[in-house]
Amino acid sequence: LGGTAAAAAGHSGHADTAAPTTTRAVTDLVADPSRPVDVRVELTARQESIRIGERELDGFTLNNVTPGPEIRAVQGQLVEVRLRNASVGAGVTLHWHGVDVPNAMDGVAGVTQDAVPVGEEFVYRFVADRVGSFWYHSHQLSNPQVAGGLFGSLVVVPRTTSAAGLTDLDVTALAHTYAGVRTINGAPGELRVPAAPGQLARVRITNTDNAPMTVWANLPYRVLAVDGTDLHEPGLVTDRSLSLAAGGRADLQVKVPAAGGLARIQLSRATAVLLGSGAADPAAVPAQPTERLDLLTYGTPAPTGIDPAQATRHFDYVIGRRLGFVRGRPGMWWSINGHLYPHVPMYVVADGDLVTMRLENRSSEVHPMHLHGHRLLVLARDGQPSSGSPWWVDSLDVQPRETYDIAFVAGNPGIWMDHCHNLEHAEDGMVAHLMYE
Ligand code: C2O
Ligand code: CU
Repeated sequence: LGGTAAAAAGHSGHADTAAPTTTRAVTDLVADPSRPVDVRVELTARQESIRIGERELDGFTLNNVTPGPEIRAVQGQLVEVRLRNASVGAGVTLHWHGVDVPNAMDGVAGVTQDAVPVGEEFVYRFVADRVGSFWYHSHQLSNPQVAGGLFGSLVVVPRTTSAAGLTDLDVTALAHTYAGVRTINGAPGELRVPAAPGQLARVRITNTDNAPMTVWANLPYRVLAVDGTDLHEPGLVTDRSLSLAAGGRADLQVKVPAAGGLARIQLSRATAVLLGSGAADPAAVPAQPTERLDLLTYGTPAPTGIDPAQATRHFDYVIGRRLGFVRGRPGMWWSINGHLYPHVPMYVVADGDLVTMRLENRSSEVHPMHLHGHRLLVLARDGQPSSGSPWWVDSLDVQPRETYDIAFVAGNPGIWMDHCHNLEHAEDGMVAHLMYE
């Protein structure tokens, strides 16, 4: 992978395509080094024992806590994060999940940088140009390092506070399972948020686990945003649950009951966000609705700026299983278009391409597909076109036997991972790369 990264650096131009594209130098891809920093963060990674509820576990911290500190920026601000590795033996990086950072800032060990060894540091600089709920996590040995606590949330808010769905009550809830213990923001059980009767809240939920998470509430709620992009005119939903892909985020709007009492959002049966005042009734876990909210039909259509008929590239991404060797071990491994890691050919695009892709899951497990550096627009599922709000994702659950058609604009040159965010699957080679020619 180090070799391919070097090769790409030597191929930043592409003189021989007919498409009206622009050639950018690598120096155009990083935030202006002379620009002053607006949000400066220092994070020190450690491998140490962590306390989760009553349990003492082997894990990882950033500034001695897990999750790491929340990073908040106003749209357009320049964020600079200095990552130091104090004691993570295998090295560490940070990836800005959902943020379309310049490639060199993407934090993928072996592709865009080397893992930061103990005693060294790496400085990430990027402009927070899109509003939304994101998160960051290590991308060196991601499966054990994320599971063990190397992650945190990243929120970008609009310049004006009058934007739709913004309230003074803005709650971030990172759902994570540490060695079998389900938590929100590092603590098991319920996250209590004091709130006045009738108050509206925006609750930003991030699923940092490897499996999908089901979210439901004790009262009607609205899905304001998915994977950091606001939905268009979302409706109010009453009796449905929402499934959140591994790595995915959903911003929910709930209203604290005007008559008093608690709004309760379940993030699994074991954890909940409680908003309001008064004592929580331990028996109050609302029954999990069987009907699921379908984002393919939720909200109101709006222009997307994307016409799939104008696509300049098309790719298939067929997920299956195949007998073979991965890391020298024989077995039935995840295959992509019939190939096993690391023999999956790169998806090659040119800057400016409109790309369509068909994601087809021919395996019997769900795969939360995650493309770095780009946002995907869902066009259709199993041939049924999207009829709700434009549904933009960076983490998309593809269920067994499902087929999704998606589109994206290739406007962020570099080498980008396109992998399964069940990080166990990624560890087992469910990884492809998108590369700009
Ligand atoms: Cu959130 Cu490549 O990962
Ligand atoms: Cu998978």
